[in-house]
Amino acid sequence: MIYTSFDNVGLVRILSLLKSHNAEYLSGQDLSDVLKISRVAVWKHIKRIRSLGYKIESKQKLGYKLVGNTELLLPWEIIDGLKTDVIGKRVYYFDDIDSTQNFASSIAKTPRENGTVIVSKKQSSGKGRLGRKWVSPDGGLWFSVILHPKFDVSLATLFPLAASLALANAIEKTLKKKPELKWPNDVTLNHKKVAGMLVDLSLKSNDIESLILGVGINFKIDPIKLEKTIKNTRNFYGVATLVKKNEDADPIKLMQSFLFELEKICEELNQGNIRKTIKEWTKMSATIGKKATVSTSSGKISGKAIRIDDDGALVISQAKETHRVLVGDVS
Ligand code: BTN
Repeated sequence: MIYTSFDNVGLVRILSLLKSHNAEYLSGQDLSDVLKISRVAVWKHIKRIRSLGYKIESKQKLGYKLVGNTELLLPWEIIDGLKTDVIGKRVYYFDDIDSTQNFASSIAKTPRENGTVIVSKKQSSGKGRLGRKWVSPDGGLWFSVILHPKFDVSLATLFPLAASLALANAIEKTLKKKPELKWPNDVTLNHKKVAGMLVDLSLKSNDIESLILGVGINFKIDPIKLEKTIKNTRNFYGVATLVKKNEDADPIKLMQSFLFELEKICEELNQGNIRKTIKEWTKMSATIGKKATVSTSSGKISGKAIRIDDDGALVISQAKETHRVLVGDVS
């Protein structure tokens, strides 16, 4: 099933009527009169709204009353209250998909898709960095953001660091937790991975035509179960869940906050304010200032992680030498 921010008009109107009358019942007849649709159509919409996780009470002679919200990242929920100018104004939501990156890349070049968000409740072939699989069960936030940025292609390798900083900021603000950043683009909680970023670039005569940012957040998952599935993959260092099973937390607020922080950081990069982003990333980093071993395609480098360069490269000092690493994993 797919829902978008630009159709499902009947469903969204019923839902907003129920939301604005949430203390009282609305009769099927009233809904059918206001929306100029049949009672059967009203009932079908109600059934669909319930299937999306909203709790609706119904009473004979009185009608329907909304008593509980959904936790799904549905397009109209993301857009309602979103404070961005461009990012997240168009949303596609899937119950299930191979990978949101694949769908994003099929529409990414169309000008109107700049800022579009593609969400899926789960993914059957989620993609991770460096060709790895990304296991994406129910309970996580799995989405891609299409961007047509103005910044130079040389910043493409810094971008994932900037995006993970945006997520760490959003987590701090909405959930009051203290995540850390691990080079190049992991967000960690208690030294275990809680989220990762992936960037797919499409270039046109050396300019960025489109950039697809894939974000995977272990929002409310069973870390032990997930660890069992992925513990044999390269660079595994443990899985964390952002919120625990019985913890009350609103994934929609987190998503909205992330999109807002992301737009702010994109603006900074567009204006060339690179150092500010790197400085903030470094402040939240669990990598800089520590001993690190980086695995690269040409072998391992061990030393002290001393800084991030303007292009996002990690600089490692080893005896009297320094090494710059652009692609790799830190342990
Ligand atoms: C990483 O390896 O750390 C990056 C993981 C990125 C996963 C996200 S989930 C949504 C989007 N769709 C995908 O197939 N991958 C990214």
